[in-house]
Amino acid sequence: MLPRILCSSLLCSALVLASGCSKPESDGAAGEPAKPEVEATQPTANGADAAPAAEDQGSAQAPESGVDYHSFANTGDYRVRHLDLDLTVDFDRKVLEGEAVLDFKRLTQKNPPMVLDTRDIKVEAVRAGHGGELKPVEFSMGKTDPDLGTPLNIQLPKKATRVAIRYQTSPAASGVQWLEPQQTAGGEHPFLFTQAQAIHARSFVPLQDSPQVRITYNATIRTPEELLAVMSANNDPKTEKDGVYEFEMPQPIPSYLLALAVGDLEFKPMGERTGVYAEPELLDSAAAEFEDTESMLEATEEAYGPYRWDRYDLLILPPSFPFGGMENPRLSFITPTVIAGDKSLVALIAHELAHSWSGNLVTNASWRDLWLNEGFTTYLTNRIMQNIYGDQRYRMEMALGYDDLQADLEDLDSRDEIMAIDLRGRDPDKVFSNIPYEKGSLFLYELEQKIGREAFDQFLLEYFNNFAFESITTEDFIEYLQQTLLKQYPDKLDEARIREWIFEPGIPEGAPQPQSDAFSKIDPVRQQWLDGEIAAKDIDTGEWTYHQWKYFLDGMPEELSDEQLEELDSAFNLTESTNNEIAFSWLMIAVRNDYQPAFGRLESFLTEIGRNKFLRPLYRNLVESGKQEMAAEIFEEAKPGYHPLTVKVNSRIIYGDDAQ
Ligand code: BES
Ligand code: ZN
Repeated sequence: MLPRILCSSLLCSALVLASGCSKPESDGAAGEPAKPEVEATQPTANGADAAPAAEDQGSAQAPESGVDYHSFANTGDYRVRHLDLDLTVDFDRKVLEGEAVLDFKRLTQKNPPMVLDTRDIKVEAVRAGHGGELKPVEFSMGKTDPDLGTPLNIQLPKKATRVAIRYQTSPAASGVQWLEPQQTAGGEHPFLFTQAQAIHARSFVPLQDSPQVRITYNATIRTPEELLAVMSANNDPKTEKDGVYEFEMPQPIPSYLLALAVGDLEFKPMGERTGVYAEPELLDSAAAEFEDTESMLEATEEAYGPYRWDRYDLLILPPSFPFGGMENPRLSFITPTVIAGDKSLVALIAHELAHSWSGNLVTNASWRDLWLNEGFTTYLTNRIMQNIYGDQRYRMEMALGYDDLQADLEDLDSRDEIMAIDLRGRDPDKVFSNIPYEKGSLFLYELEQKIGREAFDQFLLEYFNNFAFESITTEDFIEYLQQTLLKQYPDKLDEARIREWIFEPGIPEGAPQPQSDAFSKIDPVRQQWLDGEIAAKDIDTGEWTYHQWKYFLDGMPEELSDEQLEELDSAFNLTESTNNEIAFSWLMIAVRNDYQPAFGRLESFLTEIGRNKFLRPLYRNLVESGKQEMAAEIFEEAKPGYHPLTVKVNSRIIYGDDAQ
């Protein structure tokens, strides 16, 4: 039996060699290219050439459109079309073990090795051929890149169109979190979930891990009998727990939408096509909080065309989930931290649902084009929120998003304020900001304002139909605009301004500035309180919504006195707030003003929640206000319960750039 080890690259290559592979490791020098050399520059799906050679990459002025700098796969030679997965979930060893069978098309007359993406994966055997007849073939692991993982090179027989890889994952797989029972709501059963976006699918399936490649998939997942497995596929609400689960995803999806979760899960319907999977302890509160999901789905279809994915369900994860939500098709993964009891945070659901059009149907071709996913989705989210909850809510959500954008613009490097961001040589996990979201959305809002809502909705509907099930680049989008809106509205739109939005830092002059009347009422009250004209307890907060609370707190000056903090806290019980967004805003104030009475809550908040939207700013704030030691102490205590991504991005903040 193979020893149970963390797959350090050294040990991995030793194992690979021991398992009969003969091709030596690729001899990439330091600073080697993100891509292996390809035989010839093959056109990609989007008509761009395959990755330029190493020398060109560093020196090239701008990243090349349509090139995925974050995958080793030679997608110009071979294109995977379908995946058959058979995996056993081993909670004791914290590994997924089994076989991935990839069906692919050959795009070249030659027979170069096939290169797949992997990360900390132990490959045990590879077979290839076509049809059912697969024969063992030679393979080798290439040089590991800290951001991209390890290329798997496979020597294919001529004419092969299928390859089968036997493998197991590492307990430290970057895209998988293994939870102990005590990290779950029920406390009795372990839990597992994957998070593939952006480049972590390769840590649990060897494949062409690029959003340019769309695959259908089938999967058999074997788990302990008492647990349920769900995937980004056709989950049947009536499935009985028996430890063997079959899935099918008939629509072609990019690899970052592959997803699996296993736990003590139950299902509750919310509507005809919508329902919730959660641990039994959370099922009712989640179903009540998100009961408007079906209406959101209908409203979105009404405006932007049919929902093409059959069912739309939610999976409520344990609080260590590093995101608010993830748009895994047919089954969005959702943090439990948005169950506030009053639907105040359900824009998150609108957001993940909207991705069923912007992102899952029309997909960014590379991570440089992420704004096509997130900007369109943020715009759609606002529209859904307006449709379901009315104009006031819409304006408040937009205004909060605009403030988030302004805050980021104050901090970010100007190269990171560009929507079509240059990510060459960078880890996408480390370059996460509001730019693709809020700047992208504001850009679309400006287009809407200029040509009118009806015309813009018509444009979006046609855009989704035109590019359905395709992966597109920023340049594809601009070309489409040239053929549509720029032609139809030459007096209202011009290409130079559109390019400014997409390729220049900051926000173009004269851009819309979303505002809300419900917020303008808050400013004078806050000021009166700051000026000592009114006591906190006398502020009439009875009708305030979550959004107004957040606006009230986020607009506080940098410095508040101990007396002011105590007054706010005793009037509004902020340290004990059960709304995590309000608690977060308050803790940010508490950290920068050294308000000790909130530090107990701060510690439990940082320990119990793994959502990076909260953790990164809090840890950064601690470090910046001279409490690095406290940050490190809390972080070390919480670390065993954190997701690998949470560990990665926050240890950078606490210990500096290169520490892990
Ligand atoms: N797809 C994203 C999460 C993501 C983006 C993961 C990029 C990895 C790389 C998801 O849809 C998302 O945007 N989540 C947000 C939701 C929020 C903006 C409403 C989140 O998790 O905070
Ligand atoms: Zn999103």
